[in-house]
Amino acid sequence: GIARHYTFNIKHHNFTRLCTTRSVLTVNGQWPGPRLVAREGDRVVVKVVNHIPNNVSIHWHGVRQLGTPWADGPSYVTQCPIQTNQSYIYNFTISGQRGTLLYHAHISWLRAYIYGAIIILPRKNESYPFQKPHKEVPIIFGEWYNVDPEAIVSQALQTGGGPNVSDAFTINGFPGPLYNCSSKDTYKLKVKPGKTYLLRLINAALNEELFFSIANHTLTVVEADAVYVKPFETDELFITPGQTTNVLLKTKPDFPNASFLMAARPYFTGRGAIDNSTTAAILEYEPPSNHKSHTKQLPLIKPSLPPINATNIVANFTRKLRSLANSKFPANVPQAVDRKFFFTVGLGTNPCPQNTTCQGPNGTKFSASVNNVSFNLPSVALLQSYFFGQSNGVYTTDFPTNPLVPFNYTGTPPNNTMVSNGTKAVVLPFNTSVELVLQGTSILGIESHPLHLHGFNFFIVGQGFGNYDPNKDPANFNLNDPAERNTIGVPSGGWVAIRFLADNPGVWFMHCHLEIHTTWGLKMAWIVLDGPQPNQKVPPPPSDLPPC
Ligand code: C2O
Repeated sequence: GIARHYTFNIKHHNFTRLCTTRSVLTVNGQWPGPRLVAREGDRVVVKVVNHIPNNVSIHWHGVRQLGTPWADGPSYVTQCPIQTNQSYIYNFTISGQRGTLLYHAHISWLRAYIYGAIIILPRKNESYPFQKPHKEVPIIFGEWYNVDPEAIVSQALQTGGGPNVSDAFTINGFPGPLYNCSSKDTYKLKVKPGKTYLLRLINAALNEELFFSIANHTLTVVEADAVYVKPFETDELFITPGQTTNVLLKTKPDFPNASFLMAARPYFTGRGAIDNSTTAAILEYEPPSNHKSHTKQLPLIKPSLPPINATNIVANFTRKLRSLANSKFPANVPQAVDRKFFFTVGLGTNPCPQNTTCQGPNGTKFSASVNNVSFNLPSVALLQSYFFGQSNGVYTTDFPTNPLVPFNYTGTPPNNTMVSNGTKAVVLPFNTSVELVLQGTSILGIESHPLHLHGFNFFIVGQGFGNYDPNKDPANFNLNDPAERNTIGVPSGGWVAIRFLADNPGVWFMHCHLEIHTTWGLKMAWIVLDGPQPNQKVPPPPSDLPPC
């Protein structure tokens, strides 16, 4: 591979949407940020320069970072953030991955606007395992806020209540024609009849899982999270924050006398504030040169999208995703397991601090946890603390591998819904084969949680509704061609079982990719050693990492 050099200047820039002008955080003044393009096997070198008052770091979401765990990017996990007027050069190689990923800021809610596409092309002499597209187009979902998202999260933390929702969803930065004062702010995809387009879908929204559909067009799913899948056709897509999906769009053979909306809106099962609106872009056919009526305004056809709580559509879509699992692209599913973990994921509450009133459930503060532990980020980076043996007061390695008190997770919640706080990690010897069951809980309503694991792809070997049954459910696990991803929605009112091989030494964050749930503590860390012994280390971090 070759080296691809980029400079990302993190700076403010004015954008106007919904008739509101705001200065938002951008990469090089662009929102979404510039595309990062590389071939499989290439080295990527990105100099990130911080021109804003906030600290910042960039995460290369889904890039495995084999041998470069310090380049992963989550602030206070693998590095201290880059301070104002400072810079840091991320340097990593992309190996064994091809397709679409995303990068985004990884501190507080700065990823609200700091995000962009990572496009991984096949190696020079290799082609796609599907029809070569006429054109490739990133379609990036995001959110627009008429106020500063940082003010929203700090208010939510102060009051203990849920955050205000964004004012619009966006496609490539545009809310589209279904919002007030937005018809000009519409992304248009111009296409020719009878061609195949590769749409690289990315959900970079902060807090919403989304359905996506294009009116009168069927899509063929060919890749998810930079792994090829067995192609299948669908009229509607489901995509959580942090997930990416490549689809083929075959345009109609002849010029149609209509334009078509492509639209996205949320899947949501919990309670609380919700933006149920629809973002849309226009799929517009270029008229043939001999076409008479091309000055006429063509009718615009809208797609139908699933209802907001369509849990079965989500489950069916997720089940259709299967690895190619052929000789060229094998699915290396761990067949035997060294360690089994069972994690509950869900919302809970913490007591309201004295002399304050809290707007969470019953006057408490909202919280979120894994196995009842709400994770606090330290004020130094875990990776360096671990390497230099400075764990004292930073973190402990006693993260519970099972819930402390098992209960009926999707039934009536137990009385005590309080969670404990801590900075706890699990230590895994090199090459541990891990099975992890993620069980959604109903403590504060049944909700789906898109769980993202840094540093690995995992295989989704099973999923179901209700409580996971360790005696029955493993018999139905798919160990042949399960989907291989970095982010998976833990089903609303159900569970998902994943397997991965801990072959990548480093400190790896795992969290819900709904930003408010991460904020509330639905996060934890894995420490993967470079050898089999507990006294072994993680690779030595370079000395030029930013200081805290
Ligand atoms: Cu895309 Cu830790 O996040």
